[in-house]
Formats: sequence, C-alpha cells, structure tokens
Amino acid sequence: MNTYEKIVEKLKARKIQYEEIDQRAAKNRSVDELVRVTGMRYSEGMSTLFFINEKDEYVVVLRRDDRNVKSGVIKKLTNSKSLNFASEGDLNKFGFEAGLVSPVMLGELQDSYDIKILVDSKVMEMDKIICGIAKEGYGLKIAREDLFLFVKRYEVGDITEANEKRQTGVRRRILTGDTPSGRLHIGHYVGTLENRVKMQDDYETYILLANNHAYANYYEKSELINQNVYDVFLDNLAVGIDPNKSTIYLESGIPETMVFYGFFLTMVKHSRALRNPSVKDEIRYKKLDPTLGFISYPILQAVDILQFNADIVPVGEDQLPVIEQAREIARDFNKAYGHLFTEPKGVVGRVSRLVGTDGKEKMSKSGHNAILLSDSAEVLKQKVMSMYTDPNRIKATDKGVVEGNPVFIYHDAFNPDVDEVSDLKDRYLQGKVGDIEVKEKLYKALNTFLEPIREKRKYYEDRPDEAKEILVTGTKRARKVVQGTLEKFEKLVGINKLIESNDV
Ligand code: TRP
Repeated sequence: MNTYEKIVEKLKARKIQYEEIDQRAAKNRSVDELVRVTGMRYSEGMSTLFFINEKDEYVVVLRRDDRNVKSGVIKKLTNSKSLNFASEGDLNKFGFEAGLVSPVMLGELQDSYDIKILVDSKVMEMDKIICGIAKEGYGLKIAREDLFLFVKRYEVGDITEANEKRQTGVRRRILTGDTPSGRLHIGHYVGTLENRVKMQDDYETYILLANNHAYANYYEKSELINQNVYDVFLDNLAVGIDPNKSTIYLESGIPETMVFYGFFLTMVKHSRALRNPSVKDEIRYKKLDPTLGFISYPILQAVDILQFNADIVPVGEDQLPVIEQAREIARDFNKAYGHLFTEPKGVVGRVSRLVGTDGKEKMSKSGHNAILLSDSAEVLKQKVMSMYTDPNRIKATDKGVVEGNPVFIYHDAFNPDVDEVSDLKDRYLQGKVGDIEVKEKLYKALNTFLEPIREKRKYYEDRPDEAKEILVTGTKRARKVVQGTLEKFEKLVGINKLIESNDV
C-alpha cells in the first residue's frame, strides 16, 4: 500500500467524505503545478510545513497555500531562536517523506511525540481543504472539520501574510474559443489567436471548441460540425497553443453547461436578447431566419465564460456585446443569490477586423476572401497574387493609395521587415513600384509566417492519438472546474433543496 492508499483507508475508516484531486498529469508535482493542472486556486490548498528549532524541537505549521509564514511570529509563539525546515532525515524519523506528508497523519505523530502544531488563521476560513500526497500524484479535498479530526492539539494564530505571487488575482483566468465553422484564417490569428498564445504564459487559459454553438446554426449537420471542430482544434495547436500550458476542451463534453444554460434562459428578457448588436448584425449579415438557439447564443456563451469564473475573454471586436450580456447575467445572478460569478472583461486583439483579400470589410471563410492558416504555399501564392489593391491604379507608374489598401494592411500585420514595408509604401505612393513586387514580397512574408504553423498542424495530423489525448485530458480537466461551480450554484439557488437528502 502506498501512502495515498493508507490515507484513504484512514478516511474511510472514519466514514469521512473526500474528493480525489488527480494530479498525475502534472510534470513536477509542486503546489504551482497542482494549481495549473487542476484549475484549483492557491487559496483552496493547505500545506504542512515541518520546522525544527535550535533546541531540536519540532514545529509543524499548517498554512493556506496563498500565504507565507511570518517566521518572526512563529519563533515568538514557540520560544525559538532559529527555525529551519526539517531535513529529509528528520522527516524520515517520524515515518514521513517529503512530498508524502498529510495532515491526516499528524494525530498519530502527536501520540508518540510532543510536537507543536500551529495553524494559520486563514485555514479556519476554508470550508474545504485540498492537501496532498504530491509525490504520488494525488491531492485530497476534505471538509476542514473532518480533516481536523486528525489533528489533536493545535493553536490557531495570525502567523502568515499574503504571498504576492499566489494571489488569485495574479494568476487570472482566461477563457476563449471559436464556433467551429471551418479552418481558421489569418484574420482569426491577428484578432484573437495571437493573443491567446501570448497570454497562456501568464494566465490560466481555457480554450473551448464551441460545438454547441455550431448546432445553433445547423442542428442537422453533426458530421460537418465534427470535422470543423477538429480543424479548429488543430489550428489552435498549430499556432502555438501549448497543451502543457492551456486547457483545450470540447464544449459539449461538459453537459453541466446545459444546466446553467437552462437557468440563464429564465433570466434574460426576450427583448434584451433580440437587442444584442452581435446577434442583430449577424442576422442581417447572413440573412437568417434565426432559431431560438441562435438568438440565445450569447446566453450560452455567457455560460461558457461564467461557469469558469473567467476574468478575461479575448474575442474579436464584434463579440464585445456578447461579453456585455454575460456581465449583465453575472450581475443579476449575484444580486439575486449572492456572489458566484466573476464579471468578465472582453479583450480585443491588435487588429480587430482584418479586411478580406477582396477588399471587403471582413475576412470570412464564407466570403471566399480568406487566407487560411493551413493554406499551402501554392494556394497562398495564388490568393496573394490575385488580391485586391488600389482599383484606380492601372499602371505601375500611377501614384497609388496605401491607406486602406489590403495589400499594405497585410504587410503591416504580417511583414516583420518594417524597412521593406516602409520602402514599398514610399514607392507605391510615388508610382515607382508595381503591384507584382508588392505582392511577391507579401507572399514571402506570409509564407515565412505560415511555414511553422503548417508544420505543427502536420505534426498533429500525423498523430491523431496524441491529439485526441490532448482533447480528452483538457475536457476532463475543464469539466472538473465547472462541476465545482455547479455545486456552488445549486447550493446558492437551493434548486434541489427538496430532494437533497435523497439519493436521486
Ligand atoms: N461566439 C464565439 C465566436 O464567434 C465563440 C464562443 C463560444 C466563445 N463561446 C465562447 C468565445 C466563450 C469566447 C468565450 O466564435
């Protein structure tokens, strides 16, 4: 039996409920990794720290994981001149091993040794505590009252201060994604993908493949939707979404979403839903006879966001009214039932709306004016060479217009050689360069940009098992977070109060 099994046995013997936090996916099993992999917050975790003083007395400190111990205070409380972390040898003496300590084992230790246990007063604010057997890849979430049945004598005190690096506000949550409607294009890249890739280093990032949303457009086309989902999935990986940093998941893999959706639908007025500019514009633009699902897609999107308590939602500019509606729902719910949801903030990428190759306002796949991230060099060349430029310029010696010219907009967005771009612009304005040269240089820049993206896509195309594993792991991880929110939601609303005691 390993340590984890021993501890679980002790919990079972006392009929104590626990939730297993699977940390095995973590690379190095530190608290930081646990936070990253499981989506837990530092303030939900507790660590057991063993100290030894100059008199060889042991002091055990239980502190919340978003806090640092104030060693001065601990010295005073324990009459110690110096305090050091117990060595591996010291721990072994007590039958412990670093990374395998659990508070559940402390009571027995107190039976045989006179050990002082100090508890961070912040721990006493926790309802449930995650503490772990990190080395073996597990954490356990246990009600505080139950957990402390295993600690016999302890003293509670203000023995910690905030650990600035571990404040919930510091590592904020991002959630974003796409309604799969085919392969992604370079407009998506500058609009949102680029942001995502950059932000995944600093934020806890969730990326959803919004297949439920796609059904609201054409419920009968499941096969097409699955193909599109897969393409969007590969495109995300191809541009550099790193599954070790971000959680990428399938929307429908979290059925709890629909519970929230059903409830939110009761909160939003029909008139308000129809007034959403994103919905109105899209109905007009696509000449839709919209389904109820389509009119309500911002409400489904609000669920996607709120159920993760996402702080930041990187989106295209056209989606800002959708985020606004999510904020409203969060506010209304919190007002009615107490705080549960974070009001998310929408963030727009560096080019909010990229023109199409035909000069039309927006690049879109359905408009046949898009350069796909997965386009081959040949297709790219053909698309660039037939791009719309300045329609009034007939000969290379005519003075041209740079402003609003799609070829130059793309140069600005994708050609890192700013000197080359500025030289081309100068000569274009003076009628000293042909369209062909401008386009050939654009092709070169775009091709250099797309090359590594194509390669990465190919890597995953050739390894479908690896790709699938990423999606399954991500969906499981994301679902855990949502289940936590749903539990709180049900409690706050009291929706199942009448049957709570039944095992339904
Ligand atoms: N509606 C978004 C789109 O236009 C996709 C989406 C669904 C989304 N749920 C989301 C975006 C949540 C950000 C957050 O593609």
